[in-house]
Amino acid sequence: MFALSDADLAGGVLDCPGGGSSFTATARAAGVDARAVDPVYARPVADLAVQLREELERGRAWMTARSEAYRWDDHGDPEVLTHRRAASAAAFVAHRRAEPDRYVAASLPHLPMADGAVDLVLSSHFLFTYADRLDAAAHLAALREMLRVARRQVRVYPLLDASGHALPDLLQGVVADLRRDGVDARVQAVAHEFQRGAGHLLVLER
Ligand SMILES: C[S@@+](CC[C@H](N)C(=O)[O-])C[C@H]1O[C@@H](n2cnc3c(N)ncnc32)[C@H](O)[C@@H]1O
Repeated sequence: MFALSDADLAGGVLDCPGGGSSFTATARAAGVDARAVDPVYARPVADLAVQLREELERGRAWMTARSEAYRWDDHGDPEVLTHRRAASAAAFVAHRRAEPDRYVAASLPHLPMADGAVDLVLSSHFLFTYADRLDAAAHLAALREMLRVARRQVRVYPLLDASGHALPDLLQGVVADLRRDGVDARVQAVAHEFQRGAGHLLVLER
């Protein structure tokens, strides 16, 4: 979903927020200098494992009730995807136990990291997805903070809300504000499209 090349992963990468996904575990296994941030990392890993199991069930029910909102070419159906997500959550739990320092408990818009601490910041299913509870100012503050810690680039995906609605006013507003800051902000097509209509990511560079 982030259209990543090997070159993109050659430097430090921050998954923000990482949640219970296996991105950092998988990237570390491939030798990438990856880490993740999420407020839930303040919780003990055993509690998180329980929470992730509950979220898997909620996710299965959500996708089953709205299955036409997704493309099932890759994942088959909500059952198959729930099994894959369970495997991803298990990989996260195991890796968080193995390399706890790779998981930083923090909340946007404040990341406890130096300016330019990583090369690339990836952010999925938080901004835009949670547009019902994060206003334009919260989006802008979070994006500026991610730009502060990224030496090279920030990528955000998807650019729809959780129900699959496009957010043109929010997107154009934050892009315009970031361009006024001198940021090269562009919307780029990606091949990956699970949530229907989620065929674009936001790429930011200073
Ligand atoms: C839907 S999950 C996405 C996680 C991961 N990126 C993925 O795609 O699987 C949203 C995450 O946002 C985290 N979150 C909530 N408030 C946050 C904040 N203020 N700053 C950073 N992350 C936050 C939640 O804890 C949750 O793990």
